Amino acid sequence: MGNNQYKWWNHSIIYEIYTKNFVDSNGDKIGDIKGIISKLDYLVELGVDALWLCPIFLSPFIDGGYDISDYYEINPEFGTMVDFESLVEKAHQKNIKIILDMVINHTSDQHPWFLSACQSKISPYRDYYIFRQAKNNELPNNWISSRTLESVWTLNFKTDDYYLHIYTKYQPDLNWENEKLREEIYKMLKFWLEKGIDGFRFDVINKIAKADGLPDLPNGIEHFYADYLFENQNKVHQYINEIRGKVFKDYPDALFMGQTSGINRKQAFEYAHQSRNELDLYLQFDHVDIDKGFEGRRKSWTVSNLKKLIFKWQRLAQEGVWPVIFFGSHDLKRMVNCYGNTSAEYHIKSAKMLAALQLCLRGTQIIYMGDELALKNRIYKSIDEFKDTRSHSIYNKRIKNGENEKEIIDDLQFIARDNARYSIPWKIADEMEGDLTSILAFYQKLITFRKSEPVLLYGDCLSIYNDIEGLFAYERRLENKTITVLANMTDDIIELDMSNMGTLTDNSNYDIRSEFCLRAYEVRIYTIDN
Ligand code: GLC
Ligand code: CA
Repeated sequence: MGNNQYKWWNHSIIYEIYTKNFVDSNGDKIGDIKGIISKLDYLVELGVDALWLCPIFLSPFIDGGYDISDYYEINPEFGTMVDFESLVEKAHQKNIKIILDMVINHTSDQHPWFLSACQSKISPYRDYYIFRQAKNNELPNNWISSRTLESVWTLNFKTDDYYLHIYTKYQPDLNWENEKLREEIYKMLKFWLEKGIDGFRFDVINKIAKADGLPDLPNGIEHFYADYLFENQNKVHQYINEIRGKVFKDYPDALFMGQTSGINRKQAFEYAHQSRNELDLYLQFDHVDIDKGFEGRRKSWTVSNLKKLIFKWQRLAQEGVWPVIFFGSHDLKRMVNCYGNTSAEYHIKSAKMLAALQLCLRGTQIIYMGDELALKNRIYKSIDEFKDTRSHSIYNKRIKNGENEKEIIDDLQFIARDNARYSIPWKIADEMEGDLTSILAFYQKLITFRKSEPVLLYGDCLSIYNDIEGLFAYERRLENKTITVLANMTDDIIELDMSNMGTLTDNSNYDIRSEFCLRAYEVRIYTIDN
C-alpha cells in the first residue's frame, strides 16, 4: 500500500464507547450523549482520533441496543437529536470523528415493521423479515445458533408461522433479499451521513445473507451450529457492493467498517482487500476468542498461540488487507484479566505491557473505554448479577445439560460481556491526574509516540524470538528505521541479551532494568536508525 492510498482510518486510534456506561450527565445513572461531550477534552488528551459509539438508537435494550426499534430516533435515555448534533459538531471542532454502530442484520421485535409483519400475512412489511411455515409439524429447519445456543425459529401465534432470528427471539432478522427493505436501509444510512458523521461500524455484516433456501444442516455431521449457513454467503458481497454504490458513493471519506467474526484469510481478502472496494476495515476475533470454548467454557491458551493468531492477520497487511487491532470491546471481558495479571503487584504493570504490545502493532487501533484505566472484570456471585442476555443463554443451556452451577458461574466470571458493561468509575481517572507513572499517562505517552513514528503506522511488522515461550516480541521496519517491542507476558523472568537492541525509549514499565533479562510483565521498546 503506497502512502497516498491511506485514509484517515488507517492511522487512527478509535475509542469505543458503550454510551450507557460511559458518563452520566444528569444523575439518572445512565450514561448519555452530553456525558460524552463532557469527556471530549479527556479524549483529546488521550490522543483519540475517532469515537465508535455502540448503538444509540431507540431500543428496548434487550441486547445492549443491538436491537433497534427506530433507526431515526436517539434513545431518550441518551438524549435528543439536538444533543447528538451537538456532539458531532463539538467532536469535529476538536478533530475527533464520530462512527456510529449500525445494526442492519436484524431489528428489535418492537420495530413497527416487525409489529406489522406479525399482525398479518398481507402486511406490507411481512417480507421485510423471514417467515416460514412449519415443516412436517416441525420447525422450518434445524438451525441452532452458536450465539443463543437455541433454534433460530420462534412461532408467531397470530399468523401461525415462524420467524428467523440468529440472535435472541427479540431480534428478528431482516430479509435482505427484499429490495424495498434494502432501499429503506440505504435511505436511513444516508440520513445519518447527512448529519455529518464520519462512518459506520456495521454490526455482523457478514451475516446479512442466508444460504439459499435455508437448507437443513446435514444430518450426522459433527457440527453443532448452523452459523456457516448464515455467514459469508456469496450474496453478502452483492449487498456490500450495493451499499457502496448507493450510500457511500457520495461520501468518499466515510468509513465502512464491518464486524466479520469467524472469517478465514480468504474471506478477509474478499471483504477487505483494497482492490475490492468493499469494507474499509474488517473486525476479526481470533485472538480475543482465544480463551472461549464450547458453550461459554474457558479454554487455556499460550502466548505462542496468541502470537500466531495475531500475526496470521498482521501478515495480510503486506498483501493489501489492512488489520484492525483491538483487545477489548463491549462483547468481551476486560483485557487485563484475559492477557495480563490482576494481582495487586502486577495489575498496572501488566496493563502497561499490554498497552505497549497493542499500540505498536500494525493497523487501525481500537481502545475500549476504560482500558486506558486498566479496568478489571467485576466479581459475580450468582447468575442474578449478570444482566447480559448472552450470559443467561450460556447459563440456561448448561444448567439444562445438568452441569454444576458453580462451574458455570466461574466461567462466566471470566468470559461474560457484563464485565465490559458497568459504569466507568471516573474517580480512578481523577486520581491519576498529574501522575506521570499512571496507566493513563502511559497510554497518552505511547499514543503520542505512535503518532510521531511513521514506522509504527506504515512499517512492516515481523514476529521475532518465536522460540521463547512467554515472550511476545516483534519488529516494525520502515526504510532505515526499526522499532523492536519486547513484552514478557508471564510472571516469570525471561532471559534475553538486549545489549545490542538499540536505543531504549522511555515507554517502559520498570525503572530499574537489566540488559539481560525481562522481569514479570516487563515491556520495552527499542529503536534503531540504520
Ligand atoms: C454483535 C455485537 C453484539 C450483539 C450482536 C447482535 O456481535 O457486537 O454486541 O449482541 O452483534 O447484534
Ligand atoms: Ca444520564
